[in-house]
Amino acid sequence: MSWLLAALYDPMMKAAEDACLAAWRAELLAPLSGAVLEIGAGTGANLARYPKTITRLVLAEPDRAMRRRLAARAVGRAREVIGAAAENLPFADGAFDFVVSTLVLCSVRDPAAALAEMRRVLKPGGRLVFIEHVAATDNVGRLRWQKLLEPIWKPLMGNCHLTRRTAEAIRTAGFALDEVKRESLRKTIPIARPSVRGTAVR
Ligand SMILES: C[S@@+](CC[C@H](N)C(=O)[O-])C[C@H]1O[C@@H](n2cnc3c(N)ncnc32)[C@H](O)[C@@H]1O
Repeated sequence: MSWLLAALYDPMMKAAEDACLAAWRAELLAPLSGAVLEIGAGTGANLARYPKTITRLVLAEPDRAMRRRLAARAVGRAREVIGAAAENLPFADGAFDFVVSTLVLCSVRDPAAALAEMRRVLKPGGRLVFIEHVAATDNVGRLRWQKLLEPIWKPLMGNCHLTRRTAEAIRTAGFALDEVKRESLRKTIPIARPSVRGTAVR
């Protein structure tokens, strides 16, 4: 099924990109510089938004069908595309100034292990930049629907969980949260709308 999800991903996300996601990506990625690692880079939705101040950009994507689209989009640019999963990153401690995760921590097999790895490869003072959809903690009715539909949604959508509390997981992993915004990811299915975005310091 992963080839189908990879093929449908960009058309499926278009309305949300146009409504808010593209602007959120642009705003969060504009200040980046130095060495940057993006985990779960998917089809490369962030690629066009990385500024020229970046000296090294590594795009990690474990899914082969997604990675094929990512590599095609990144072709001709000075970018490294690798197949690593976030839980096992093939880099030395402190190798990066920034790690980027957009709509990925909902899908990773083990969020705590992924966050520990992301923290390990960041320099002290380095930043995790994130946009994630999360549990509807302030809307009991929507949270109930998320819990009800998650067992069906997960296998159809590449292990995407609807009820993760990702900001809290980032803090538990030892990051200091900074500039966090919670907002509706407009023009997506209502169960995937609650979102959190911002930066967290190692
Ligand atoms: C919803 S897509 C998001 C793609 C892209 N980051 C974006 O912002 O559009 C989720 C991505 O996470 C990837 N993924 C799933 N499990 C992962 C893991 N353990 N480590 C890294 N990436 C993972 C999937 O292959 C997929 O490309």
